[in-house]
Amino acid sequence: MLSTPFFVFCLLLTTALIGVAGEYFKPFNVSYDHRAIVIDGHRRMLISAGIHYPRATPQMWPSLIAKSKEGGADVIQTYVFWSGHEPVKGKYYFEGRYNLVKFVKLVGSNGLYLHLRIGPYVCAEWNFGGFPVWLRDVPGIEFRTNNEPFKREMQRFVKKIVELMREENLFSWQGGPIIMLQIENEYGNIEGAYGQKGKDYVKWAANMAVGLGAGVPWVMCQQVDAPEFILDACNGYYCDSFRPNSKKKPMLWTENWDGWFASWGGAIPHRPVEDLAFAVARFFQRGGSFQNYYMYFGGTNFGRTSGGPNYITSYDYDAPLDEYGLLSQPKWGHLKDLHAAIKLCEPALVAADSPQYMKLGPQQEVHVYRGNITQGLTTAFSTSKSVCAAFLANIDEHKAADIEFLGQVYTLPPWSVSILPDCRHVAFNTAKVGAQTSIKLVDFNLPSSKMNVPQPLTFQDEVTYIANDWMTLKEPIGLWSKNNFTSLSIMEHLNVTKDKSDYLWYTTRLYISEDEISFWEENEVSPELSIDSMRDLVRIFINGKLSGSAKGDWIKVVHPIQLVQGYNDIVLLSETVGLQNYGAFLEKDGAGFKGRIKLTNSKNGDVDLTESSWTYQVGLKGEFQKLYTREKAESVRWMKLTPDATPSIFSWYKTYFDAPVGTDPVVLNLGSMGKGQAWVNGHHIGRYWDLISPKDGCRPCDYRGAYSSEKCTTNCGNPTQIWYHVPRSWLQRDQNLLVMFEETGGNPYKITINTISAQTICGRVPETHYPPLHIWGHPDFINGKISINDMTPELHLQCEDEHTISSIEFASYGTPQGNCQNLSKGNCHAPNSLSVVSQACQGRNSCSIAVSNDVFGDPCRGIVKTLSVQARCLPSSFARSASM
Ligand SMILES: *[C@@H]1O[C@H](CO)[C@@H](O)[C@H](O)[C@H]1NC(C)=O
Ligand SMILES: *[C@@H]1O[C@H](CO)[C@@H](O)[C@H](O)[C@H]1NC(C)=O
Ligand SMILES: *[C@@H]1O[C@H](CO)[C@@H](O)[C@H](O)[C@H]1NC(C)=O
Ligand SMILES: *[C@@H]1O[C@H](CO)[C@@H](O)[C@H](O)[C@H]1NC(C)=O
Ligand SMILES: *[C@@H]1O[C@H](CO)[C@@H](O)[C@H](O)[C@H]1NC(C)=O
Repeated sequence: MLSTPFFVFCLLLTTALIGVAGEYFKPFNVSYDHRAIVIDGHRRMLISAGIHYPRATPQMWPSLIAKSKEGGADVIQTYVFWSGHEPVKGKYYFEGRYNLVKFVKLVGSNGLYLHLRIGPYVCAEWNFGGFPVWLRDVPGIEFRTNNEPFKREMQRFVKKIVELMREENLFSWQGGPIIMLQIENEYGNIEGAYGQKGKDYVKWAANMAVGLGAGVPWVMCQQVDAPEFILDACNGYYCDSFRPNSKKKPMLWTENWDGWFASWGGAIPHRPVEDLAFAVARFFQRGGSFQNYYMYFGGTNFGRTSGGPNYITSYDYDAPLDEYGLLSQPKWGHLKDLHAAIKLCEPALVAADSPQYMKLGPQQEVHVYRGNITQGLTTAFSTSKSVCAAFLANIDEHKAADIEFLGQVYTLPPWSVSILPDCRHVAFNTAKVGAQTSIKLVDFNLPSSKMNVPQPLTFQDEVTYIANDWMTLKEPIGLWSKNNFTSLSIMEHLNVTKDKSDYLWYTTRLYISEDEISFWEENEVSPELSIDSMRDLVRIFINGKLSGSAKGDWIKVVHPIQLVQGYNDIVLLSETVGLQNYGAFLEKDGAGFKGRIKLTNSKNGDVDLTESSWTYQVGLKGEFQKLYTREKAESVRWMKLTPDATPSIFSWYKTYFDAPVGTDPVVLNLGSMGKGQAWVNGHHIGRYWDLISPKDGCRPCDYRGAYSSEKCTTNCGNPTQIWYHVPRSWLQRDQNLLVMFEETGGNPYKITINTISAQTICGRVPETHYPPLHIWGHPDFINGKISINDMTPELHLQCEDEHTISSIEFASYGTPQGNCQNLSKGNCHAPNSLSVVSQACQGRNSCSIAVSNDVFGDPCRGIVKTLSVQARCLPSSFARSASM
């Protein structure tokens, strides 16, 4: 099957030969020309998958990389997270989720390349953009400009990473997977703020990077003034009109935003896959050669790693692999088909120096790539072969278009691209999705103590709370240790906390005279506490009682307070919820309070409290005691929490729980809680918050037309996040410790632990759909013995690994209607539909069914038939016991 010239050629290009032990590839050099990245002498069209290693666990990495490869990726792209690798200045950390070497080696051992974006500023919706917070304390430092202290620190870290990679033989010329690096990140977006110093910094950064002798190309993204020896690249939703700043550089897309991140209290953005595929196809159509999905897997902002302002713990990003590493369908599958179609075009795309352009209508255009293949052929097939690939685009947002190309008419749906790997037959259209849909459900909470007892499948519908026993402890309000200190000023939050905690207590004492009280009573006014500017959250306590809270991003806060005659304790708790990660002058942004803090409506006008005596306390007592560790949690005295206790603020909760059986990803439902942080067996699973997104604002989504992050949102009127990922590798079978710190009051007795899996999968393929892309590699097709017109489309269904199709819940070949979970037969229906599909699929992990009259008979002549199927996937162990 592979003994064809076409395939031999592809093999030589794509499966870089695995080398000797310790090397993942035979050493190869990477360069580029105006058309593409050149790998070992060959131009390549590269699909890259963005995965940030610390947003998953090392135990998840193999499967994420394997699923990226199966989805058609050639390259994995990641940032390097300085704050994680150098948490304390000069003390490096490369273990656990920060084991960069292990991650890079895994990418190599899977036969994929790596694009390592060192930055070291990375943005990434990561705390402080990836900078360690100690960096702002380096004397005289100004970030990301021509500033000696900054340049010294930046160079030290970048050099450290490059040398680590070289010592481990991870560069391509050493037989490793690294083909490209990146210095800085989207600096062009803010460069103007720095004037000439910014321009000098760009030159310095470029020279410094190249001077490290890494031996592979460096990229600067969003950098129109990148020097000649550095690649510039585009980030955005669309990059087909991007042109590099030199005729000698190829067109690279470092960040294709295939979704977007979410903020506490916001809706959840989605990007329709038809539009995403359109953007990718348009990019390759118009000369692109490297495209990376930001993100292919988004994952989770564990601990306090999420950036700000106010980004949520999930970094799902609506990526092709969801937060838990499960396939997001049809996104993953449709892109897999797209990648296969682009790969079929690769010989022509790399053979041509530039496409032939044809405008075929007001909003219709064709790009044709033609060339002769002479390199890479074995002697048996040493004749030159001419190749041709074409991309047909209809950019019209509303109307389909018929366009004539090389004597044939092609119908293009609105806002779509058809890909013709042989300039004749359509292999793929971006708007026609043949891939399955998956609906993920949360259930199967079986405590492992019942593991060996066969369970009825109805068990899944019961709500099972994580525990029947909870213990609690109060967190003190205000000062709790000798580490408190006093200052006659309002100090900047990060200057005090060094971001060791989200929390900083400011306490002061205020004397109120009898006169003052009478003045308020007589004038029927109450005093107000006024803060000129504040981020991200403040809680105001007066005489030990919570008086109010405010949240925002440098907002003015004016809050009425109740004071008594005599001394009043005023306690302000300033909280960060992810440090700012984007913008110029990050080191100056800081957190907490700015300007003056005053008492207004006082008898003699405003009382300025800014220079009062303020006593400071960093963090929470429980946090610094490490209450969340098993050792500490067991050594302090907790109180029993009764199920009917009234919710209390500033409390710690503790329980033990059994892990759900099986291998499906595990989530906690924290929907019953307010705001706080949670730890499982000492692992910080992240911040949680119950903020609800605005009710209005989610609209039905149409894939057609330019995308923006507000265009297609869901979850309006609901809490932004209730499910929190607990990686399997952090769990043991039973006696898992869950510790939570809760600020606003919640009910831990309502917390559930669940597993997530794609239980319902649906496929819908019309008989007019394209045949599966693998047939393009079939020798009979290549030799012209069979025509593509003789091939039938297929409906493909696949459960996740270790899951089995347990039943077919719906199947109709004819004119079925409705969407997944709401399917119905139409007027035309082949009566054998269910039995044919059940026979082919039931009991298997995956199955394919040809969509044609040959299989089902013809239930209605002259009408276009569609096969629509809904199937149920169960963990293979359940499916087996269910059928017993
Ligand atoms: C890569 O390039 C270097 C410098 O030109 C050369 O010495 C080396 O042999 C090349 N390696 C390979 C594998 O082509
Ligand atoms: C391919 O080769 C043929 C014959 O050598 C030549 O006529 C033709 O121009 C070549 N096509 C391209 C696109 O280079
Ligand atoms: C605050 O610090 C002072 C000075 O170290 C100490 O005397 C006092 O006990 C501390 N307060 C608390 C509540 O620990
Ligand atoms: C933070 O502390 C540094 C050094 O102590 C000081 O120079 C700087 O002004 C402080 N920043 C703010 C915003 O107070
Ligand atoms: C289910 O499908 C029917 C027919 O296709 C449609 O009329 C109905 O609105 C759908 N119901 C839901 C809940 O989507």
